[in-house]
Amino acid sequence: MNERFDNGILTALRCPCCNSEMTLENDGKSLKCSAPKRHCFDFASSGYVNISSSHGSGDSKEAVRSRTRFLDSGHYKPISDAMRGILSRCVPQGGLIVDAGCGEGYYSCRVSGAGYSVCGFDLSKVAADQAAKRARREGLSNTLFGVASVFELPMADSSADAVMNIFAPCAEREYCRILKDGGILAVAYAGPEHLMGLKKKLYDRVYTNEERSDMPKDMKLLEEIRVRYDITLSGAEQITDLFAMTPYYWRTSQSDKDKLLGLDSLTTEADVIIAVYKK
Ligand SMILES: C[S@@+](CC[C@H](N)C(=O)[O-])C[C@H]1O[C@@H](n2cnc3c(N)ncnc32)[C@H](O)[C@@H]1O
Repeated sequence: MNERFDNGILTALRCPCCNSEMTLENDGKSLKCSAPKRHCFDFASSGYVNISSSHGSGDSKEAVRSRTRFLDSGHYKPISDAMRGILSRCVPQGGLIVDAGCGEGYYSCRVSGAGYSVCGFDLSKVAADQAAKRARREGLSNTLFGVASVFELPMADSSADAVMNIFAPCAEREYCRILKDGGILAVAYAGPEHLMGLKKKLYDRVYTNEERSDMPKDMKLLEEIRVRYDITLSGAEQITDLFAMTPYYWRTSQSDKDKLLGLDSLTTEADVIIAVYKK
């Protein structure tokens, strides 16, 4: 038996190839579907499972490592506290929460630690691997981490109590499909001033962040919570880790990147909006 997740999670999973129910086989080392073809998905030794029918890569090893170091330093704890607070108010204890685009599992594990079953899915194998390792490190027994696209989640219709979606692509139709009636979608994204201090060090002209174009349009918006505070980072490693987590990292010239390396410390705003919707 797989000791990492409960029956609620298993019942909600669906085969990405034929949408049939899944069972644990091979002493809990594989998931197999119940269709005649018995599609089989093996768990890696870390505990994640590649349960994807799509081909994509997601975040790289370097990006995932930077994210883990940065999140472990606690600088985004107020954001995870806000997400936990929203879910605790809206979802009964023991409910099933899907973390869509879970990355290396920091938020999934914080929410699981608050008494929920959590399925985290990410396109990046390295991220899912790190997330499973994090859950094991933290002794969590009610999580499953899988490689899958947020646009094709291996979950049954109306099976999840909530979906959380943090700095990751938002797939409204797919989230609506897997949510129970009355289920909650919480989308966290960069507010106008997010990381303004970092941007000012890099560029001569800086702009506030634009609104996202993929926000839900058909679901009912319940509330928007804005989390704003200052973060002070010490040393090149912390500063570079935060920078490597942002989309700017890939768009910035080496000469601009070098401006950060000489800094002893950096203070920058965190400005995150969590929009909460109901199915
Ligand atoms: C900015 S990171 C955020 C990760 C995590 N939610 C966090 O805040 O720490 C975005 C994540 O989305 C994943 N991603 C990108 N496109 C995806 C897709 N179509 N399906 C699933 N994950 C995706 C990336 O691999 C990456 O881990």
